[in-house]
Amino acid sequence: KVVAVIMVGGPTKGTRFRPLSFNTPKPLFPLAGQPMVHHPISACKRIPNLAQIFLIGFYEEREFALYVSSISNELQVPVRYLKEDKPHGSAGGLYYFRDLIMEDAPSHIFLLNCDVCCNFPLPDMLEAHRRYGGMGTLLVIKVSAESASQFGELVADPITKELLHYTEKPETFVSDLINCGVYVFTPEIFTAIQDVFTHREDRANLRRVSSFEALQLATRTPLADFVRLDQDILSPLAGKKQLYTYETIHFWEQIKTPGMSLKCSALYLDQFRFTSPHLLASGDGTNSATIIGDVYVHPSAKVHPTAKIGPNVSISANVRVAAGVRLISCIIFDDVEIKENAVVMNSIIGWKSSLGKWSRVQAEGDYNAKLGITTLGESDC
Ligand code: GDD
Repeated sequence: KVVAVIMVGGPTKGTRFRPLSFNTPKPLFPLAGQPMVHHPISACKRIPNLAQIFLIGFYEEREFALYVSSISNELQVPVRYLKEDKPHGSAGGLYYFRDLIMEDAPSHIFLLNCDVCCNFPLPDMLEAHRRYGGMGTLLVIKVSAESASQFGELVADPITKELLHYTEKPETFVSDLINCGVYVFTPEIFTAIQDVFTHREDRANLRRVSSFEALQLATRTPLADFVRLDQDILSPLAGKKQLYTYETIHFWEQIKTPGMSLKCSALYLDQFRFTSPHLLASGDGTNSATIIGDVYVHPSAKVHPTAKIGPNVSISANVRVAAGVRLISCIIFDDVEIKENAVVMNSIIGWKSSLGKWSRVQAEGDYNAKLGITTLGESDC
């Protein structure tokens, strides 16, 4: 059996996603009409012998309860939200729930960052991992040398694919091959995390012998049970024939800012052509709006037949789009009303906004924009 764990983080981590993360946890932010976390979850469904999917985070349980029960029903795979009492780090969080994760005695555990956008080639990774052996395989990708320093940079053996060297967000260039935040591990990963704790205790004990003051410092530190997967596990285990890499040549992006969500929405909509064409609006019906390129329209939304929508538009529940409206590259949240002849380009329209007749909401087409949200009140321009 195999289980999958998706690290969803928590409210304190989402500051770059403000103000969108004020109303909804970042993992539930809609991309291509589906919550961000929906995309890795539905990719997990393709893993052979998948027993369970766990979401681990420190958001309030109630924020995920509805979503988790509806997605479990939809996919017919148990999806559970496990709440940490405080952040334990990307590896510490996994370790904290080791008993629950190991309940079904899985042979492999997938670990996925929630805030990455890719085609999640999970069955291929598992197959590659079985060939390589070792404790884990990381999904990696080549990026431009300039952008590599925002990620974990690594060196892999070109023949055996073994991870030889790993540095998290280095100040000086190491490699243009980076860590995508998608892993498959054997249960040995728990021993590796346990070893980090043991070493820390040993070091604290050494200090205890040499200085009572140092002991006080060590025991008072709030980070005692905080373990990061990258710095604390991947870096020290590189070059020890334990970790291997699987390189993807498909798309991969990190979703840290609202602006990036527009780009990722476009990538997922494009992928729907192959994975879920029924989710894309066709514009074929007699009373349908003109649809250009990839567009998602929630079934409860009402779009006037004279509106022109696309490319890269996703329209959420209960949205009303009036006659003559033009929407290009945008995400429209629940309950928004867009009145006659309004134009929206390269923007995210927040919950329950109302755009007046002839209004125009347009941002520069910069996907890295720190603030991509627009919430306009009623206007009569
Ligand atoms: N549950 C839980 N608890 N989740 C956490 C915690 C925690 O204490 N800390 C981080 N996470 C989640 C985040 O929500 C995210 O999905 C993932 O773990 C990694 O977050 P960070 O540790 O903040 O790292 P990062 O996103 O800056 O970089 C990581 O991912 C990149 C790929 O997107 C690193 O692994 C990089 O090397 C990698 O390139």
